[in-house]
Amino acid sequence: MSSGKNILLCVTGGIAVFKAAALTSQIRQAGYDVKVMMTKSAMEFVTPLTFQTLSRNPVYHDTFEEKDPSGVAHIDLADWADLVVMAPATANSIGKLANGIADDMISTTLLATTAPVMIAPAMNVHMYAHPAVFENMEKLADFGHRFIEPGEGLLACGYVGKGRLAEPEEILAAINQFFKEAANQILQNRHVLITAGPTREHIDPVRYFSNRSTGKMGYALAEAAFSLGAKVTLISGPSVLKAPYGVELLRVETAEEMYEAVISRYEQADLVIKSAAVADYRPKLTYDSKLKKSEGDVAIEMERTTDILKELGRYKKHQVLVGFAAETHDVSRYAKDKLERKNLDMIVANDVSQKGSGFEGDTNQVYIYGKDGHERKSFLLSKKQVAEIVLKDSLRYMKGLNER
Ligand code: CTP
Repeated sequence: MSSGKNILLCVTGGIAVFKAAALTSQIRQAGYDVKVMMTKSAMEFVTPLTFQTLSRNPVYHDTFEEKDPSGVAHIDLADWADLVVMAPATANSIGKLANGIADDMISTTLLATTAPVMIAPAMNVHMYAHPAVFENMEKLADFGHRFIEPGEGLLACGYVGKGRLAEPEEILAAINQFFKEAANQILQNRHVLITAGPTREHIDPVRYFSNRSTGKMGYALAEAAFSLGAKVTLISGPSVLKAPYGVELLRVETAEEMYEAVISRYEQADLVIKSAAVADYRPKLTYDSKLKKSEGDVAIEMERTTDILKELGRYKKHQVLVGFAAETHDVSRYAKDKLERKNLDMIVANDVSQKGSGFEGDTNQVYIYGKDGHERKSFLLSKKQVAEIVLKDSLRYMKGLNER
């Protein structure tokens, strides 16, 4: 039975092209419509006729051979695809895509498509481990492309190691999983507003007060919300992290700027997650020129910043509001107190005195408390996994999700 989904299979040149033939057959048998595009080198290994017969569709390889005068083939195919799968993907084709090079039909189509791209690399073990290839793959992963890892074993070149194209069954499983997840885009048409990172409160043009937050937790939350189909705005204090794929990023510095940015987006937001470590105090005076040192001590008078979360809680209408709390003791008592005082729907607390939790690291262990009595203590997990849990738990407070 047809799934109604279109897959464009891009076959680039390596010995693993023979596996792409089996993959084509399996994709078609699983009910997808599959069209195959080949590079010149791929055609040195297997002829287009094989792919044409297995896919029951014409095979494309020449940008300048226009079979249908009413369209431009590589653009039409780029638009036609619900998913593009590059298998096998050579080091060369990965390098071209990572660097925006379009010198044949596959590389041109890959730049022209807005469909998600899945890449199954296949190459010699040393090529796979080469820093240039690694960097290109990292870049593509940052763009949001998905990778299907190669297997380990005896390679055609005689070496034993990592580089063998994943088996057709594994690639098909990844394709099925992709469409299953896409169908679960539970946050489609919902706006999610996330704050991340520290704020900087300036004393003079060269000095400021700040904290150790890196933004990792908030950026992971933004990525997780985007993968559930949400329209995501990430308001971030200073952070070295790159904007997650598909997410609108607004950069701010001070608590005041964060307040302005958050308030301007609050009305449209359905879910707000305030993971930023906002300064509670700022210098009462900010000097326009650098303060010169003098004999003796100096005291800087500090004043309170606006508690953004509290303000959001005060004016909350349809929004689901999730706060964060960094505690060092009595986690449950302090977190539940903040939940109530700030009129939140849920609070995510971490005990920053514990190893592996809190600032700077890649892991976190959280305690979640909901206004309905929901409680959860997570294991020590990656911030990405914590983001998924936080998001999943927030959904219980969003109206109308389950009826969709
Ligand atoms: N927060 C905020 N605006 C501030 C300060 C904090 O929006 N000016 C938000 C943070 O983004 C976080 C939560 O409030 O979601 C943290 O609550 P807060 O009461 O500031 O916690 P602590 O800083 O740990 O405060 P306390 O010293 O009372 O424990």
